[in-house]
Amino acid sequence: MGSFVLGTGSYLPKRILTNSELEELVETSDEWITTRTGIKTRHIAGAGEETSMLAVRAANKALQMAGLGAGELDLILVGTISSEVSMPSCACLVQKELGAVNAFAYDLNAACCGFLYGLDMADAYLHRNPAMKIMVIGAETLSSRTNWQDRNTCILFGDGAGACIVSGAGQGHGMLASKTGSDGNLHKLLYMDSARGMNPDLSNAGNLGSYIKMTGRDVFKHAVRAMAGAVTDVMAQTGLGMENIKLFVPHQANLRILNSLLDRLNIPVEKAYINMTRYGNTSAASIPIALDEANRDGLIAKDDLVLLCAFGGGFTWGAAIIRW
Ligand code: ACO
Repeated sequence: MGSFVLGTGSYLPKRILTNSELEELVETSDEWITTRTGIKTRHIAGAGEETSMLAVRAANKALQMAGLGAGELDLILVGTISSEVSMPSCACLVQKELGAVNAFAYDLNAACCGFLYGLDMADAYLHRNPAMKIMVIGAETLSSRTNWQDRNTCILFGDGAGACIVSGAGQGHGMLASKTGSDGNLHKLLYMDSARGMNPDLSNAGNLGSYIKMTGRDVFKHAVRAMAGAVTDVMAQTGLGMENIKLFVPHQANLRILNSLLDRLNIPVEKAYINMTRYGNTSAASIPIALDEANRDGLIAKDDLVLLCAFGGGFTWGAAIIRW
């Protein structure tokens, strides 16, 4: 049996925003950001780097690695909360740009869990038809949804995209276990309004755009608890021990969340892939960017077990174990 993951790709915008530059925008310091989040730099999209374009660049690299033509794709799933258009889906723009004429395409809004939920969905399709070739992408330009005067949030996020092509799950291959959860009761702890709610007088007044709003401390607590629960669940489902896991690739929110999670789960830090220091929190893009880097660095090979987990707005959370 071949690999579950046929190819990976990622793309980060050229422009890098440092903590020192943020000191010019809001009352903060490199020292505060570094100690509270571990983040030093993040990438910011510029002209011609809309969410769909970041996704296309990551997808093309994945196709190249897989040795596939775009016409061989059956499905494109894009996890995103920051597409440049609300309709059609970002996935349809990606499909057009790639020339993936045989693929159907749609988006998933699960915030930072968008890629993980997408992979879970791809696995379900593959159980129906293992021959399908599915492109799962996480792509975000959160810089366009950030209030750059709000020091509680603007220090955290970054832009980027990552992509994975998967095929042939089943019989001990592909996604061995997954656990996903959501709790809409807590949505006000981390949310982004749409441009407007209602428009009863059909006027254009008040169409002011929308930004991420967050109650950081509460998000932190729930994130650690939910991800720890989901990881424990998938380990129990498979009966595997942490010694069986080659690499732990968590959502790259911030270093303090990750360290709390590692402590709680007794996972040695060397087992975790960490790149949030360079990219900040790229929401749905964070796991596939990390997977692509780890893959290209030779940290993951065919048949290795990789543990994934994520948490995001919704709240949404999840964990999965895949055989690469
Ligand atoms: N620079 C300097 N001071 C700041 C900044 C900043 N950028 N932001 C907040 N402060 C101040 C606050 O105003 C507060 O001041 P006060 O004591 O005078 O009121 C003080 O620092 C402490 O603020 P807290 O919010 O309590 O700081 P905390 O230690 O909780 O750290 C942080 C804040 C980093 C946001 C933390 O709560 C966190 O990591 N939360 C998780 C958020 C997250 O990762 N969200 C991403 C989306 S969800 C996900 O992907 C998992």
